[in-house]
Amino acid sequence: MRNMNTYIGIDLGTSGTKFLLVAADGTILSENTQTYEVCYPHSGWSEQSPELWFSAAMQGLKKLLDGQDKAAVKGISFGGQMHGLVVLDKNDDVIRPCILWNDGRTEKQTKYLNEAIGKEKLSAYTGNIAFAGFTAPKILWMQENEPENFARIAKIMLPKDYLAYRFSGSFCTDFSDASGMLLLDVKNRRWSAEMCKICGISQSMLPEPYESYEVVGTLKKEIAEELGLSETVKIIAGAGDNAAAAVGTGVVGEGGCNISLGTSGTLFVSAEEYKEDKVNALHSFCHADGGWHLMGCILSAASCNAWWSDKILQTTDYAKEQEGLEEELGKNDVYFLPYLMGERSPHNDVNARGAFIGMRPDTTRKQMTLAVLEGVTFALRDCLEAAKKNGIEVKKTKLCGGGAKSPLWRKIVANVMDMPVEIPQTEQGPSFGGAMLAMVGCGEYASVSVASQAIVKVRETVLPDRETAALYEERYRVFRSLYPALAESFKKMRKQ
Ligand code: XUL
Repeated sequence: MRNMNTYIGIDLGTSGTKFLLVAADGTILSENTQTYEVCYPHSGWSEQSPELWFSAAMQGLKKLLDGQDKAAVKGISFGGQMHGLVVLDKNDDVIRPCILWNDGRTEKQTKYLNEAIGKEKLSAYTGNIAFAGFTAPKILWMQENEPENFARIAKIMLPKDYLAYRFSGSFCTDFSDASGMLLLDVKNRRWSAEMCKICGISQSMLPEPYESYEVVGTLKKEIAEELGLSETVKIIAGAGDNAAAAVGTGVVGEGGCNISLGTSGTLFVSAEEYKEDKVNALHSFCHADGGWHLMGCILSAASCNAWWSDKILQTTDYAKEQEGLEEELGKNDVYFLPYLMGERSPHNDVNARGAFIGMRPDTTRKQMTLAVLEGVTFALRDCLEAAKKNGIEVKKTKLCGGGAKSPLWRKIVANVMDMPVEIPQTEQGPSFGGAMLAMVGCGEYASVSVASQAIVKVRETVLPDRETAALYEERYRVFRSLYPALAESFKKMRKQ
């Protein structure tokens, strides 16, 4: 029997990079994660060095390929944390650390874009309004606060594009990730000349945009040699992590939904036609299958549970911490607002903060743990409500990301959203999606949707329980009232 071709999917995440080696039939042959830290130089800022990603990638790939048939590897592709501003000078040196997707330093620039330029113009140019994490306001911030650095910019790219550049020498991006820069005319899949002008950059500083499944180059000789791979291994453009995750969970074509519980949390609805969000809460972006999607993004999701467990309770045994809580579903009267890094959808507020509300003398540690998982899920329900306001009806959802490993959290999602939740065979959405994009780019499957039908499998479906969902409905109403009551106080807490 002929050995099957294999493909590598790389998910360049915030807390680490994940690597998957996948056979053409979807079998996972090898996987590993290289973790790293986020740097928070000021309150609400977050940065990471692109060099860190590159060295994590080389280490992770070596480990991934150890003992595997290297000649079978045909293509590599990516899912990547979105919106990060990576800037290179004319010698290809990184000018400053990447300003990440959850960085909140651009309040002033975001306000300038939404108010002085105006939401209507921004929507006409890009299909979106400005949110603090998007790339364009960060470019304006650099222009204003780091003029020497700004003057050195020769190339602007997104995190995963930096890896593709180092691997292949191709200065490229893909439409799904480029959508989150607020520099792309999402409807027409081309850079917006107006937005480049507003940001004071030239279009030549921006990468060539491709469809996510298109080949952008091959491995550079020195990289191929170091990894023991052939120089003919193809690099495929890849996608923003959420679009890649949607591919990895089979959410392509019209009307599919994927919820991701990673460092961020997202609710992603795929569409064949371009749609703009009428309530300015969701993002209208290109999808990795050639179509589009609407997406709500909350800045802190599984990261809230990591903060609560690792930092506060000082335990990494999440399963033990969640033991016995199934009995409590829908009954908890402690609430948690998950705005540890401010919030994107739907509030667009960099000043929002995390909060526990509703404690009494008999409140337990377990109830607070449950409140954290519920609070994140309620915030994602806000995104679902925004989708409903756009006339979108979601009947079921896929679930992926680290949080999807928790059976308790899966039940909470099913009941808070009041819909069936399908758990794919792997919760590694973006890296699996990345490998699938590589397969399509190398001609293994005719299209992203053909690949998805052939290899994405659902392992389990979690159904909502009528009584529990009704209890959560009441609690969601309480949750919804909390942010508006606190928004002014959050503003006053801002550190200058
Ligand atoms: C999406 C977003 C996050 C990051 C996380 O708009 O900002 O989901 O992509 O990696």
